[in-house]
Amino acid sequence: MTTELSPDSLTGLLERARQDYQDLAGRGLSLDLTRGKPAPEQLDLSEELLSLPGGRHTSADGTDVRNYGGLQGLVELREIFADVLQVPAEQLLALGNSSLELMHDCLVHALLSVVPGAESRWVDQERIAFLCPTPGYDRHFALCQRFGIDMIPVPMTPEGPDMDAVERLVAEDPAVKGIWCVPKYSNPDGVSYSDETVARLASMQAAAPDFRIFWDNAYAAHHLTDEPVEIADLLAACAEAGNADRVFVFGSTSKITAAGAGVAFFGSSPANLKWLLANNAKRSIGPDKINQLRHVMFLRDADGVRAHMERQRALLQPKFEAVARILESELGGTGLARWTDPKGGYFVTLEVPDGCAKEVVRRAADAGIVLTPAGATHPYGDDPRDATIRIAPSYPSLAELEQAMQGLTVCVRLVGYEQRAR
Ligand SMILES: Cc1ncc(COP(=O)(O)O)c(C=O)c1O
Repeated sequence: MTTELSPDSLTGLLERARQDYQDLAGRGLSLDLTRGKPAPEQLDLSEELLSLPGGRHTSADGTDVRNYGGLQGLVELREIFADVLQVPAEQLLALGNSSLELMHDCLVHALLSVVPGAESRWVDQERIAFLCPTPGYDRHFALCQRFGIDMIPVPMTPEGPDMDAVERLVAEDPAVKGIWCVPKYSNPDGVSYSDETVARLASMQAAAPDFRIFWDNAYAAHHLTDEPVEIADLLAACAEAGNADRVFVFGSTSKITAAGAGVAFFGSSPANLKWLLANNAKRSIGPDKINQLRHVMFLRDADGVRAHMERQRALLQPKFEAVARILESELGGTGLARWTDPKGGYFVTLEVPDGCAKEVVRRAADAGIVLTPAGATHPYGDDPRDATIRIAPSYPSLAELEQAMQGLTVCVRLVGYEQRAR
């Protein structure tokens, strides 16, 4: 990333960065780039949900959605999302409002009740570990910490996790019970898994008979270009490879309709579905089918989801373009930064020189620009290079985002040139 500079030009660049930072700090900003949340205008796209189901209270098969029951969720909603999530409707459950909650529950159930293929409950085993492709989603890592699951970082590549490392670790250590995967437009670096990565995940040898891939397809429909990325079908590939029970698929409409009032999905093999349904039956007498019915009425079919996501894209794409434009104009050619150019999803990863990320985040906060804490993208909050910063462009208005990005680039120049001058 470095560019050679003479001592004179470094002094000049540092002077200018200091001046720009002083101006920035004097502006009394209060801006937030931390949250991968939909903006209010995105939520407005689903406003109609609030007036649905408008007095209707039966599902396609005549079920009264107001009553208890229906642990699998409405079949007509599962049919709409079968394609998007690459899970046949009969192997897909439509449940509560949060896929993170389902991931939490799957971990708890696996700890407390034997998963198909396991010799014992995870809680009865001396040590449990998960592979964590890094950088990754901080809430996956938080779940591991919550339940005492060791985290083993595995580097991400442009094709997905480093599969040589994954295959080795999964084959040699029976304590490795799982891997977190965000296979499309990953959080935070926007990577989509290649067909080869999917094939290797499906067919690799696992020392643990109860090894599971937590396939968090949170951004399955969240494209930012005219060329939607398609990934290979892991559930089918696992079945073909004789590892039908290997994958838990998760997804939700949180960033399709309403982040706090969407519908979450779980897809897997018949044996895993039976296991989850039996466990779920102990904690709930059925999901919120009124919410599911209104999603069916609002989205209608898979084409309805695609059309809706085009409207989401129209709001999000200009924000991602602004991030790329400002990074290029302010930091391009400086040798101080690299950044991702995601084709979908919710995040941009900014890489600054080693040892600078925490300081950039601190200086930005002092100037009124809040960023996700440096390190959050790594297990235990520890980015060994201290180089990764996650940018979430969705929530602020375009004008606020532009201001925040300009300010962030000032902080990167300041911290980067200060480091070089030392
Ligand atoms: C990768 C990933 N998974 C899951 C979630 C949360 O999903 P849900 O709202 O369905 O709980 C997020 C939210 O940012 C995410 O980035």
